Amino acid sequence: MFTENDIVKEVPPADGASVRHYVLLMAGGSGLRAGGGVPKQMRPLNGVPMLVYSIRAFRKENVSSKIILVLNDSCLDDWKRIQMEFPETEGVEVCSGGVDRLGSVKNGLKYIRETYDAPGNVFVSVHDAARPMVDVELIRRGLETASRNGTAVPVVPEVNSLRECVQGHWQSADRANFRVVQTPQIFRFDILEEGYAAEMRPEFTDDASVCEAAGYKIALYDGSPENFKVTEPLDFVMAEAVLKAKADI
Ligand code: C5P
Repeated sequence: MFTENDIVKEVPPADGASVRHYVLLMAGGSGLRAGGGVPKQMRPLNGVPMLVYSIRAFRKENVSSKIILVLNDSCLDDWKRIQMEFPETEGVEVCSGGVDRLGSVKNGLKYIRETYDAPGNVFVSVHDAARPMVDVELIRRGLETASRNGTAVPVVPEVNSLRECVQGHWQSADRANFRVVQTPQIFRFDILEEGYAAEMRPEFTDDASVCEAAGYKIALYDGSPENFKVTEPLDFVMAEAVLKAKADI
């Protein structure tokens, strides 16, 4: 999206001592592609609702980080039941999701602004609840990258061969030129807020594209292959296997 002529806004490194961290845990979707009736982020993986795994990982990074669950209103009763059964979810705040993911992030930012007035040295991790394999090491890498650059987006190399449609013809593309993007995508609050204040465009598929359009360079950090998004029915089987293996380590 950037061209050579675009102006990139300068972002000085954060003052580490006073940084505050908010997490927008994105669970506002209906998750219909995954099947099963209940939104996928509420469904159990090895007996634990999917979204609880992300809460555990962010709590492990810092017990006092504010976690705001951006939730589809239809899931409130399910969430109350989860809170009774899983004490580690205590203190997680809830705000309503939007019609699409970008709308849900906007709602989350408004919630932070109205509840905490989000002053200067604040960082926001936007994380898909549909990525339950996120772990504390990955989150720490992201926070470190964001504190130096103002932005941080996890990526992994593409392992498949790729073909690209160029003027109506599919041709091979060099996969070394591509990276697969994951979450948590982490931004200084004011950068993310500025990005989301603009009109949303169809080509915005994630928070990075929104902030890039506002003139910010996106810093990348190493994601992990296991931090995949649970989308299709088969992903549930793979996620359960990965989570079990991680628990056994
Ligand atoms: O549908 P998809 O898997 O791309 O959604 C990615 C994440 O964004 C999921 O965790 C989903 O719950 C969340 N989402 C949201 N609000 C929406 C749609 C999706 O928070 N309206």
